[in-house]
Amino acid sequence: MKILFYAAKIYDKKSFDPVLKNFPEIEIDYIDHELEPRTAALAKGYDAVCAFVSSDVGAATLEKLNECGVKIVLMRCAGYNNVDKEKAKELGITVKCVPGYSPESVAEHAMALALAANRRLYKAYNKVRENDYTLKGLRGVNFYGKTAGIVGTGKIGAAMCRICNGFGMKVIAYDVYENPALKEFVEYVSLDELLERSDLISLHCPLLDSTYHMINIDAIKKMKDGVILVNTSRGALVNTNELIEGIRLDKFLGVGLDVYEEETGNVYEDRSDDIMAHSVTARLLAFPNVIITSHQGFYTVEALAAIAETTLQNFMDAKNGVKTNNDVA
Ligand code: NAI
Repeated sequence: MKILFYAAKIYDKKSFDPVLKNFPEIEIDYIDHELEPRTAALAKGYDAVCAFVSSDVGAATLEKLNECGVKIVLMRCAGYNNVDKEKAKELGITVKCVPGYSPESVAEHAMALALAANRRLYKAYNKVRENDYTLKGLRGVNFYGKTAGIVGTGKIGAAMCRICNGFGMKVIAYDVYENPALKEFVEYVSLDELLERSDLISLHCPLLDSTYHMINIDAIKKMKDGVILVNTSRGALVNTNELIEGIRLDKFLGVGLDVYEEETGNVYEDRSDDIMAHSVTARLLAFPNVIITSHQGFYTVEALAAIAETTLQNFMDAKNGVKTNNDVA
């Protein structure tokens, strides 16, 4: 049984090949190309394709896969907002993802971004390298005793709640469902109250119609002056142009983004020689209080191993018609 693995990076092969030994019936062909309508036909003759957050798993791609007889799509990630679920269902294509492979990997990165933005570590690192030992522009605040507002308390949000609690922060949260495992130390509040009370706001809910641009200028105006905003979830939770407006209003002590609206096309590519003619990301990076990383929250040894194991098990389950909590469609 064969899987065509799209947009494969060296680290993908390094994490999947060792796990493949536990699944002797599976063969993987790794290719550089991203999955999109133009490249979907390459999957002819394969039992499944393996795709990622940067892939285009929309209707046109799914139609092409269906024409090629490919009935299984394995998402090697937790989020699946790039999948046209309705189309997949209509075509009878099974789509599975890897929820919760290592919530701590993303939550720890969220805290790293919060701390880096607060203490301007990216500036400090460069200053010292240039023999500049002054402290100008580096003043931060203590997290101890401050209020952390966590939006979305599923697997990653819960891990972030535990981390913030460990820092001695008061933890408040907003979710459409309350997580009973957190009731000892998390106070659930409305989104508006969270925006008004938090010193650190970290986003951990999925991208849905209901969460698209949930952080817009109205939300930003409700936040405290000097708030730190972190997004490790999906770029379109935040309206980038209105975030820039908020930064210009001097609302933020710091902004840490592992995801941003323009990331498709950038994710895991070297674009250092490109002229980014219309980039709002470039505008964001011009601010001294913004740090951006490129969707690396998941990128730890533990998370990669868990992704490989679950993706291959998902394939076996899909082949055997076994339904699990990992089913997207
Ligand atoms: P999860 O499904 O365990 O938790 C999501 C939570 O968001 C749930 O508790 C849900 O009730 C809540 N939610 C849904 N709608 C909401 C709304 N309108 N307002 C507030 N909360 C709402 O998901 P998990 O594993 O914690 O992942 C969260 C997100 O993190 C994923 O959707 C994905 O976009 C992102 N992610 C980012 C990674 C990275 O490398 N930066 C890696 C993995 C996931």
